[in-house]
Amino acid sequence: MPPGRHWTHQIAHECKIAGVPQPRHRENDNVTTPGHTAVVGLQWGDEGKGKVVDLLTADHDVIVRYNGGANAGHTVVIGDEKYALHLLPSGILSGGKICVIGNGVVIDPDTLLGEIEGIRSRGIEINAENLLISDRAHVVMPYHKEHDAALERVLSSAVEGSGPGLSIGTTRRGIGPTYADKVHRSFAIRMGELTDKEHLRERLKVICAIRSRELNALGVEAEPLDPDELAERYAGFGELLKPHITDTVYALHDMRRDGKSILFEGANACLLDIDHGTFPYVTSSNCSTLGIPAGTGLSAPFADEIVGIMKAYTTRVGAGPFPTEETGDTGDRIRKRGNEYGTTTGRPRRCGWLDLVAVRYSAMICGATSIACMLLDVLSGFDELKICSSYRLSDGTVTDRFIPDARGLLQAEPIWETLPGWTEEIDDTTDRSDLPTEALGYLERIEEIVGLPTYLVSVGPERTQTLEGTCRA
Ligand code: GDP
Ligand code: IMO
Ligand code: MG
Repeated sequence: MPPGRHWTHQIAHECKIAGVPQPRHRENDNVTTPGHTAVVGLQWGDEGKGKVVDLLTADHDVIVRYNGGANAGHTVVIGDEKYALHLLPSGILSGGKICVIGNGVVIDPDTLLGEIEGIRSRGIEINAENLLISDRAHVVMPYHKEHDAALERVLSSAVEGSGPGLSIGTTRRGIGPTYADKVHRSFAIRMGELTDKEHLRERLKVICAIRSRELNALGVEAEPLDPDELAERYAGFGELLKPHITDTVYALHDMRRDGKSILFEGANACLLDIDHGTFPYVTSSNCSTLGIPAGTGLSAPFADEIVGIMKAYTTRVGAGPFPTEETGDTGDRIRKRGNEYGTTTGRPRRCGWLDLVAVRYSAMICGATSIACMLLDVLSGFDELKICSSYRLSDGTVTDRFIPDARGLLQAEPIWETLPGWTEEIDDTTDRSDLPTEALGYLERIEEIVGLPTYLVSVGPERTQTLEGTCRA
C-alpha cells in the first residue's frame, strides 16, 4: 500500500481488523474523528520525530510543541525540499493546520523570527491564525546563551586531562539558564511581557545588573549588559510576534472541546528528560510525555495514541553514559551511513548498537502505545547486528531495568544478542513484506523485547520511504 495522505487512517483501519484497540478514535456528534496523538523520542534525541510528525500531521488539526526550545532540530524532507525546524512545530509545513508553541517551551524570539522568515521565504504561509505562541512561554535572553556557553567552558576546563569532563555538551542555546530562571522566578521573562516595553525596561534594570556580575564571575569579559538596549530590541521582537502571542491554554481547551484532533510534537527525548533521563547529562525540561500536561495546560488523558520514536540503532549528542556506544569502525560506519551529524549544532553524533533496555524504559515512562522504527536502511550491509536487552552491573548482577542516573548507568555493561544482518539496500522498499527476512526478524525481535507493535517503519528520510507497521500486540 503506498503511503499517502490517508495512510494513517488506513493503518488505523487495519489495527481495528486485527483487533488491536489502537489508534483509538473519538465519536463527536456522530462523526468519527481521529483522536489525539503524541510523538515522543525514546532514546537521546534525533530519532526522526520530525519525519513522523510531518506524516501524522495529515490526520490532525492542531500540532503542539510542549517542551524544550531551539536545542531541538527536527528535519523534514518533502520531495527535493529539506527543512530543519527548531522552534516551529513541524506541522507548519502542511497548509491548513494550527500550530501552537505551548507554555512549556522556552523561546529565543530572535531565532523564532528568523525561522518564521526562512519558512515564509519558501512560500509557506505563517499568520496569526496558524501560529499561536503562549504568552506564558519563557524567553531565552542573550545572557542565558552566554551563561550556558560560559558554564560549559568552565566545567570542561575544570578537570581537563583528568577525565571525561564535567560539561554536559549542551547546544549552547541558553536552555538550562532559561529554565533555571523560570524555576527561580524573580528574573524570568515570559513572552507576554515582551509587548510592554516600559515594564520590560524596569525588569531588565535589576536583571542586567546581577547577570553582568555573574557573567564576569564565569570569566566573560564583556561590557555590562545594557537594559535600555535589551528592552528596545526585545520589545521590538515582541511587537513582531504580538499577533501570535495569546493564552494558548484556553485556545487548546477550546479546540479540544470543538473536536479538533491534536498532535503533540515532543522535542529532545525521554532519556534527556530532566527527571527521568540520564541525569545530569540531560536537558532542562520534561521531554518525555510527562511534560505534555504541564507544557500545554491540557490535563490527562491528553492523547489516545502515543507513538514512541526510535532509531534502529542508538545515537547520542553531547556527554553522558551510553552503554552500547561503538567508538571504532562500527560507530563510524553507522555515522556515515546515517549521516549522523546534529541538525542544530552540526556535531558528529556518537553512534552504537540498539539499546532496548533504554527503549523499553522510555516506552514505559512515556506510556507509548506503539513504536516507530526509524533509519532501518542504515543497517544494510552489516553481517551481524547486535541488540542489548539487559545489562551486567559491576557487582555481576544482571538486570533488564534501565538506570536513569549517569553514575549508575556508567557501570552497566551490555549483554548482547546477535542477529543476522542483510546485505541489500532497502531504501526503495514500499511494502514491509518485501523487506529481507533478516530485517523482518530484527523488527520482530524489537517488538518482542519492547512489548509494543510498530506503528511504522522508516527506510529513508522522505515521506514515501515509510512502511506500514504491524500494530500487532
Ligand atoms: P528529530 O530531532 O527526532 O526530528 O530527528 P532529526 O531530524 O534531528 O534527525 C533524524 C535524521 O534522520 C534527519 O536528517 C532525517 O531526515 C533522517 N531520517 C529520518 N528517517 C530516516 C530514515 O528512515 N532513514 C534515513 N536514512 N534517514 C532518516
Ligand atoms: P531533538 O529534538 C539530541 C542534548 C544536548 C546535550 C543535552 C543538554 O532534535 O531530538 P541543552 O542544550 O538542551 O541544555 O543540552 O541535551 N540535546 C539533544 N540531543 N537531540 C535533541 O533534540 C537534543 N536536545 C538536547 O546535545 O547533550
Ligand atoms: Mg534532532
